[in-house]
Amino acid sequence: MSKPTSQSTSQSTSQSTSQPMSRQGNENLALDGGAPVRTTPFPSVGNASGRTLGAEELAALTRVLASGQLNSTVGGETRRLEGEFADYYAIEHAVASSSGTAALHLAVGAIDPDPGDEIITTPISDAGTVLPMLMQNAVPVFADVDPRTGNLSVESVRACITERTRAIFAVHLFGSPAPVAALRELADAHGILLVEDCAQAYLTRCPDGRLAGTVGHIGCFSLQQSKHITAGDGGLCVTADAELARTMRLFADKGWPRDTDERTHLFLSTNYRMTELQAAVARAQLPKLAGVVADRRGGARRLTSALASLAGLAVPPHDGMSYWQYPLVVDPALAGGTCHDYGKALAAEGIPANGGYLNRPLYRTPVLAERRTYGQSGYPLQVPPARVEPRYDVGLCPEAERLIGERLLVISWNERYTDADVDDIAAAVRKVHRALTRSR
Ligand SMILES: Cc1ncc(COP(=O)(O)O)c(C=O)c1O
Repeated sequence: MSKPTSQSTSQSTSQSTSQPMSRQGNENLALDGGAPVRTTPFPSVGNASGRTLGAEELAALTRVLASGQLNSTVGGETRRLEGEFADYYAIEHAVASSSGTAALHLAVGAIDPDPGDEIITTPISDAGTVLPMLMQNAVPVFADVDPRTGNLSVESVRACITERTRAIFAVHLFGSPAPVAALRELADAHGILLVEDCAQAYLTRCPDGRLAGTVGHIGCFSLQQSKHITAGDGGLCVTADAELARTMRLFADKGWPRDTDERTHLFLSTNYRMTELQAAVARAQLPKLAGVVADRRGGARRLTSALASLAGLAVPPHDGMSYWQYPLVVDPALAGGTCHDYGKALAAEGIPANGGYLNRPLYRTPVLAERRTYGQSGYPLQVPPARVEPRYDVGLCPEAERLIGERLLVISWNERYTDADVDDIAAAVRKVHRALTRSR
C-alpha cells in the first residue's frame, strides 16, 4: 500500500482564459458592467474536470462487477479498503460506512450516550456533524470558534463542559487543523471522547506533526463527491481502540456480530454498510490522495503569496492545511466590504467563490432552532431528557455569527487548478479589493 508522497497528480491542460484588458485597463467590476476577469469554467469537483477518476477506478469497478459480489458482507473490497486506509494513516483500525454522516453516526453510536447527554461541537460545519447526535438522542452544545480559522476555540469548549458532556466533536474546517492536541488533553482530563471530523481534512497536519484524525479517539472521513477523494458517497472512521472499532463495525451492520456466526443483533443500530462498488472506487482513489493534497497546497501557496499584502484580507494561517477550500477572512473596515460583497463580486468575475460558507450557524437551522426532530415532541431538546433546555438563539456564538455574516470568504479549490487558474483568481480578488477599497 503506498504511503502519502508528494507526487503530483496535476494533469490539467486548462489554459488561462482571462482577458488582459479586464485585469489591467478596465477596472469596472463585472457586477457594474465591466468585463469579467474569467469567462470559462474552472476545474470543478462537480464533474470530471476537477476529479481524479480514471482508468484505475474503471478497472476496479469492472473487477467488482465481474465478481458478482457487490455487498461488503460477502465481497472483500470493503475489508481491504479498511486495511489500506488504516495502513495509510498508520493506525490500528478503520471502519467503512455509507457516508461521512454515517461515519460520524458510527462514532456517536460507539460513544453510546444516554438520551439527553451532551456533545460539544462547532456551529460552522456541514449538518452531517450534528445530525447523528440528534439521531442518538444526544443534545448538541455549540462552542464558539477562533475568528481566524473558524475552528473550535478550546476556551469556549472548556466553558461548555458539564457533568452530562460525553464527547467533543471537532471539525477541521476547510482542511485547516483544529486545535485537537489541546482538545484531547481537555477530553482526557474530563474522561470524555474527542472525535475529529476530517471530512474536509485528508492529510491535514497538526502543528505537532500528527495527522488530523489520529489525535482524537476517533477520526471520521467522507468520500462524498466534493471531497479530496471520492466514491460519490462513503465514509471511513479510524481509531487506535479495538473496542471502539468493533462497536462501530457492529453499528454499521445492524448490530450483527458476523465474526461469531450468530444471527443476532447486539444493540439498536442500522445498516450503514459501504457497497463493494464504493470501496473499489475508494481503493483506486487512495493512492492518488497525496498528489491531490500536494497539488492543492501548491496552488494555495501561489494564491497566498499573491494576496498576502492586501489590507483587510487574511490568508489561511496554517502550514498543515489540506485546502478542501481556500478561505479568506475579511475585515470589512479595511477591505471595503463584507465577505458577501466579495463573494458576489467575485462570482460576477467568473470566480467560484461565496461569502459566509453557510447561510446560518448550524444551531439556527430549523432542525435545531425549531426542534424539528421526532413528531411534535422536540425530543431530546427538552427537559427531560436534556439537563437544561438548550438555547439555540441568535448571539449564542458571536465569532461564528460574525464569520458567517460578514467575514468568511470561501474560494472553491481544486487540485487541477493550473498556475494560470490561480493567477485569474488572484487577479479577480485584487481587482475587487481595489474597487471596494476605492469606493469606501
Ligand atoms: C465537515 C463535514 N462533516 C460532515 C460531512 C458529511 O459528510 P457526507 O456528506 O459524506 O455525509 C461533510 C460533508 O458533506 C463535511 O464537510
